[in-house]
Amino acid sequence: MKSYSIALIPGDGIGQAVTDAAWQVLSTVARHSGFSLTGTPFPWSCAFYRETGAMMPTDSIEILRRFDAILLGAVGWPAEVPDSVSLHGLLLPIRKAFVQYANIRPHRLLPGVQGPLKAENFDILCIRENTEGEYSGAGGRVHQGTGDEVAVETSIFTRTGIERILRFGFEQARQRRGKLASVTKSNAQRYSMVFWDEITRELAADYADVEVTSYHIDAMAARMVMAPESLDVVVASNLFGDILTDLGAAIQGGLGFAASANINPDRSAPSMFEPVHGSAPDIAHLGIANPVAAIWSGAMMLEHLGESEAARIVMTALERTTARGIGTVAGKDKTETIKAAVLAALN
Ligand code: NAD
Ligand code: IPM
Ligand code: MN
Repeated sequence: MKSYSIALIPGDGIGQAVTDAAWQVLSTVARHSGFSLTGTPFPWSCAFYRETGAMMPTDSIEILRRFDAILLGAVGWPAEVPDSVSLHGLLLPIRKAFVQYANIRPHRLLPGVQGPLKAENFDILCIRENTEGEYSGAGGRVHQGTGDEVAVETSIFTRTGIERILRFGFEQARQRRGKLASVTKSNAQRYSMVFWDEITRELAADYADVEVTSYHIDAMAARMVMAPESLDVVVASNLFGDILTDLGAAIQGGLGFAASANINPDRSAPSMFEPVHGSAPDIAHLGIANPVAAIWSGAMMLEHLGESEAARIVMTALERTTARGIGTVAGKDKTETIKAAVLAALN
């Protein structure tokens, strides 16, 4: 029997509840599908930081490297630990250390979900560069606490980084509807973004079967609202992809529906699966977090592990659940109710 070892990092706030729900669904489908999933939980979080002074131990990357995949809930509890500390101590270092350079985020309406737009038939795959760009972490502050204080935060764009994320996007477009949108802001940012546009044009020659269009980020934001059906695969830098995918979440009914996969396409290290949303401190103790995004992310994990049939079963169960109106309106159903409905829909 095939067996996969999964590192579970529920993290903070609603991270625990949505990861528990996803794990229960994934374990159940694994049992029915003839493979086994072994989960090893890690308590790394802001609570762990308060106890130990670090978000995760110094050997955490080596510990995680041994797993087939990582399932993560959400990280951050800004009332107690600054986000700049917690995210740079856990989520971002994992993405970088494991070269999870492709952050894949699907945006489409599940049946029964009422989005805010008139458009209903959009199916967008956002691919966000996940290891460099605006979130490289290069920078510093000088003259702190004085009137002359300066903060510098440098974006780093490398040919390697741009080329590999664009190639990944082209390959995805080939497997879908053959359309690639490359998003930059080369009218204002004349070095990094012009570089990105140039590489887009260079690579297009290798993918003559894919229709490529370059958009500016501001125009893309408007297009995702006004004409989302015109889009197929959308590739963007770290910052632009971050913002566009919360917009994508909004048009698909809310953050409770937006799934994501941090993929190491070379499989030289584990990939990590997590919802787009954060720890949602505003609803963390109410038991109403929507676990759909986390469960969908779990289906993406099964797909990545090669268990495509099990992934399909999970997606069908999610679709049956939302089609019944369960989990479709924020705050109406409890996390437990939605999870139970998905479990029941697995058969
Ligand atoms: P958030 O995504 O946590 O919440 C934004 C809004 O969406 C809130 O009103 C929240 O209640 C709602 N929401 C989010 N997920 C939901 C769900 N599953 N069901 C129902 N409603 C949901 O974003 P934020 O408030 O900006 O961030 C809160 C904390 O999470 C911060 O510390 C932030 O840095 C962190 N964060 C972490 C991740 C991550 O770990 N991947 C992602 C985003 C934000
Ligand atoms: C996301 C999150 C993270 C990101 C934050 C919490 C650092 O917003 O996964 O979209 O921007 O990568
Ligand atoms: Mn984000």
